[in-house]
Amino acid sequence: MAVKFTDLGLVNTKEMFAKAMKGKYAIPAFNFNNMEQLQAIIMACTETQSPVILQVSKGARSYANETLLRYMAQGAVEYAKEIGKGRNIPIALHLDHGDSFETCKSCIEYGFSSVMIDGSHHPFEKNIEETRKVVEYAHKYNVTVEGELGVLAGIEDDVKAEEHTYTRPEEVEAFLKGTGVDSLAISIGTSHGAYKFKPGTDPKIRLDILREIEKRIPGFTIVLHGASSVPQNLVKQINETGGKMKDAIGIGEDQLREAAKSAVCKINIDSDGRIAMTAAIRKVLMEHPEEFDPRKYLGPAREALKELYKHKTVNVLGSAGHAFD
Ligand code: G3H
Ligand code: 13P
Ligand code: ZN
Repeated sequence: MAVKFTDLGLVNTKEMFAKAMKGKYAIPAFNFNNMEQLQAIIMACTETQSPVILQVSKGARSYANETLLRYMAQGAVEYAKEIGKGRNIPIALHLDHGDSFETCKSCIEYGFSSVMIDGSHHPFEKNIEETRKVVEYAHKYNVTVEGELGVLAGIEDDVKAEEHTYTRPEEVEAFLKGTGVDSLAISIGTSHGAYKFKPGTDPKIRLDILREIEKRIPGFTIVLHGASSVPQNLVKQINETGGKMKDAIGIGEDQLREAAKSAVCKINIDSDGRIAMTAAIRKVLMEHPEEFDPRKYLGPAREALKELYKHKTVNVLGSAGHAFD
């Protein structure tokens, strides 16, 4: 049975983005697919009073089960109310990298308040056509839509791109006009996954392209994917506790802080959470090989995740303290 996102206590991204644009910060979009991740996100964002986007990929949806996810999101809203002592932070539920109209439609029926249709791998006209179809449907239910222009390097779901294709600023106006999207993900040098850049390199977000895009569509919400920073201390912790992560670096947090002050109003972070969780679990199991109660390692992993998310909202995205603006 279809459910409206408002009945789950969720909000769409419209007001969040308007406030983020004005306040010069970005809303965190944290991916989740299990209870501990969801708890950590809600705890961190409630404690720091940050609005938040709970982000679910197609893979996460099939991992966790779509029905269960719908109740988890509803539970997250109630949990936020409980620990926020009645003052609940704004929470959106967003489909990450929607691959088709059907996936987007299904998510809307399951109570998502926002969807991404990722047609970035299609030729420009086909991307417009597919995105517009989703927008027309989603807007009937007041669900907001993110589209994408340009291709990020790295891995997302099953799709791997070796090289970036930067967003072409000259295409953005026509894309917005042709689709009616509420926000636009762009490719300006960030990259998906934990293995983004080689150590010793100095990866830079192409702020020049961002400025050029902002000039053409002033005040329009921009989204950055692939914004994990791959914390080196946590990678080290993984490798010192029996892990074998390859050497890699991510996007510098100072650069993300800078981008968050611009029209970038949504920043996607998934891999850093995975790394934090794995590092914590490995440490417990290394130090206490006798442990077999999952709560004994998932508990510390949840705590580590919460600290990571708090750090992101306070020091990187600048969204802390803005939940009740
Ligand atoms: O950009 C992709 C996200 O990190 C989701 O990854 O498809 O493995 O859940 P996933
Ligand atoms: P990371 O792999 O850098 O965390 O990016 C996540 C993302 O873009 C989700 O859509
Ligand atoms: Zn992404």
